[in-house]
Amino acid sequence: MSASASEGSSLRVLGVVKEFPSPDNANVRTLALAGVTVSVAAGELVSIVGPSGCGKSTLLRLIAGLDSPNSGELWIGDVPIIAPSAERGLVFQDPNLFPWLTVRRNIQAGLVARGVLQEKRHEVDEFLRLVGLDAFANAFPHHLSGGMSQRVALARALINHPKVLLLDEPLGALDAFTRMRMQDEVLRLWQARRTTMLLVTHDIDEAIYMSDRIVIMTPSPGRIERTISVAQDRPRQRSSPEFLRLRGEILELLHFAGNATRDRSTVSPGVSPDAADGSPGDDRKPPEQADPAMVKQNTQSGAVHSLREALSSRKNSTSLLRHSGLPPG
Ligand SMILES: Nc1ncnc2c1ncn2[C@@H]1O[C@H](COP(=O)(O)OP(=O)(O)OP(=O)(O)O)[C@@H](O)[C@H]1O
Ligand SMILES: [Mg+2]
Repeated sequence: MSASASEGSSLRVLGVVKEFPSPDNANVRTLALAGVTVSVAAGELVSIVGPSGCGKSTLLRLIAGLDSPNSGELWIGDVPIIAPSAERGLVFQDPNLFPWLTVRRNIQAGLVARGVLQEKRHEVDEFLRLVGLDAFANAFPHHLSGGMSQRVALARALINHPKVLLLDEPLGALDAFTRMRMQDEVLRLWQARRTTMLLVTHDIDEAIYMSDRIVIMTPSPGRIERTISVAQDRPRQRSSPEFLRLRGEILELLHFAGNATRDRSTVSPGVSPDAADGSPGDDRKPPEQADPAMVKQNTQSGAVHSLREALSSRKNSTSLLRHSGLPPG
């Protein structure tokens, strides 16, 4: 396996619209995605964050080729997406392992399905080592922890050498410590293979910790609000002022924090409205141009205090606090 060359391809989603019939009335249509445009460069790791129902999974299903859009285009490199393909790996919150198969057989399932097990059998051991499960090759899924199961699911997707790996809340069911460890695991896999990755997460800290860019989606109808670049070197410090500043900025964009009556065009200091197309050119302003209110939040205690206060004053504060990544206070 090459250690540095990118296995990934670029991904382009252009003006994608997706409607669904309403569950109550088939004549009424729900607009799940209202003209979504986003691009991911080859080897890039991009996260999507947004409230429940904003269309994140719908977008991933369209990219996976499991569903088709009402209008718009989806491309992997210069090839249009029209059907599912092993070149687009998909990993969900539930690892969905075959309970009757060992770890080895779960990982090689894709090779069996494609009829290439004989020639690629040597790769199974490589991928077992890559995810640190060589000692568990003959274990069954019920012998594994949640984090180990999710590593099997990642290996099972990666062994097909996907050009794009689509991750839909893959760490969402793990406890906080396992989740942080697995974030490092996924980053290690990404750095080893440079597979293009698109990660859906509700966890803003996870998005900042892992991503090159973060796409913020808003619901009703689902659309891209902004795209934010994360310029910090890895490994990132979760308590650094820049990390906390980004967290505050994203919470503001999602309307979970700050002044709800504030003009939305000024809500996100440092994020260019031009960034909504997901192009890598978007970025934050230099700190000296930042909104003084946000600068005040940049001290750790100030940021945590003001965000918790803002979250607590709203409906569903427990859930929002949980998603904010702030400690209970
Ligand atoms: N097969 C379907 N039929 C009808 N409506 C659907 C279907 N799939 C999704 N929707 C609707 O599309 C919208 C977006 O759903 P989607 O599952 O993509 O949201 P999401 O952002 O992934 O949410 P969550 O964070 O809860 O997973 C929702 O209003 C949902 O009810
Ligand atoms: Mg979803």
